[in-house]
Amino acid sequence: MAENVGQTNRPVADLPSWPEQKIRGHKLEGHRYTSKDFAEQEWSHVWTKVWLLLGAENEMPNPGDWQQEEVGRESILMVRQDDGAIKAYYNVCQHRGQRLVSEEKGHARRFICPYHSWAWTRDGQLDFVQDADDFPQGTPCGKLTLKEVRCETFAGFVWINMNPDCVTLKEYLGPVWDDWSVYRIDQWKRYVAKTTVAPCNWKVVMDNFNESYHVNTVHKPKGANVEKLRIHSGVDTSYKTTRFDMADEGHGRMIMLGGYAGPATDKDGAIGEPLADILRDWDLDPEDYRGRGEDTREALQQARRRLGPGRGYAYFNELNDSQLTDAYHYTLFPNFAVSLWVDGFHFLRARPHPTDPEQCIFDNFWYAPDPDGVTEPVRTTAGLVERGTEIEHEVFSLGEKSMGLTIDQDLTIFPGQQRAMSSSGYQGSYLAGQESRVSRLHELIDDFIEESR
Ligand code: FES
Ligand SMILES: [Fe+2]
Repeated sequence: MAENVGQTNRPVADLPSWPEQKIRGHKLEGHRYTSKDFAEQEWSHVWTKVWLLLGAENEMPNPGDWQQEEVGRESILMVRQDDGAIKAYYNVCQHRGQRLVSEEKGHARRFICPYHSWAWTRDGQLDFVQDADDFPQGTPCGKLTLKEVRCETFAGFVWINMNPDCVTLKEYLGPVWDDWSVYRIDQWKRYVAKTTVAPCNWKVVMDNFNESYHVNTVHKPKGANVEKLRIHSGVDTSYKTTRFDMADEGHGRMIMLGGYAGPATDKDGAIGEPLADILRDWDLDPEDYRGRGEDTREALQQARRRLGPGRGYAYFNELNDSQLTDAYHYTLFPNFAVSLWVDGFHFLRARPHPTDPEQCIFDNFWYAPDPDGVTEPVRTTAGLVERGTEIEHEVFSLGEKSMGLTIDQDLTIFPGQQRAMSSSGYQGSYLAGQESRVSRLHELIDDFIEESR
């Protein structure tokens, strides 16, 4: 068992600051969410130029294991090589363009095209064609290869970039790289995987995860008063106590104080769920905090600091006190948002629809560490999940199943906003300071489009 040697005591303010960013603050007009022309510009100048988080390394542990994910009109095939590295290719046969695989994942010695059986090795070489002597220009074997896409791995994920001249992933991620490295997310396991097609542009989704201004309205528990809601679910969502950062590389970080009782206390001051349960998990008696819910944050930090490493959470030693309780929301440009908790990685991603700017593919996953000996269920956005459960990736139409309570609440908003984007009555946005990261997302998109001109 790891020893608790860290005993670090670094408050939020000690985290290195990200540079100040100037927000130009232009109006976000409806056409950005509806126009095919604008979507086409985003495709050519953003999606095909940036690093995108696609597969997960532990979905393909052995040589020949592969995974396929779509981004807009493209499908990317990621394959574990014999030497353990991962390569990514466009999922396209070089004979007459058939997609090589249509499933989400699998294992292959070679990829045999379903149209005329051309066979491609795991490392993208063509090593068999039917009737090889029938090619007047000579056999394509040894000549043709699958078209490779830049690919790197970080935090257990496979990242790809369709721009062969791109910067490295580490450069692209900037300060996010260091922030995430200490958690050893690569060893975490997926406990929720839900995907649906949302009837809105991908930016409707990402705008939403770039601000917490909507929380008091959209995620308001029944009967709660709005003041109290600031500390709903054990997190203080008020912009006044939230720390906002924006990196030069275009990514955002928003830190909300966690371990808060607030409205999760009843009128007698008893700590409500889920906070009470979290306290119990860490050998704290919620009764001891009756009437002084504001003390739970520090108590939880101390308990995790003291007990965490011995329970298999060795990385707690690398975290500052704030990271032991607070919600670290990251938005990675352009399409990935994660709430990183001390023991959970809430993965939210919006991918553009292949043809329709008014739809997108929306993923909601949850990853959690799985230390030996820990038996408590994993607390996820979609409820408690028994540890060790092998979960299926659920892909469904919107409304057919729940994505998890909070996300379902967000999803009730998206269709109405999307419809309003094509209204002549919408005159463009009017944003609050705490929505700066929404502006920044759009300004970066414009910069990518502009730079290409
Ligand atoms: S298109 Fe792949 S073998 Fe013909
Ligand atoms: Fe929300």
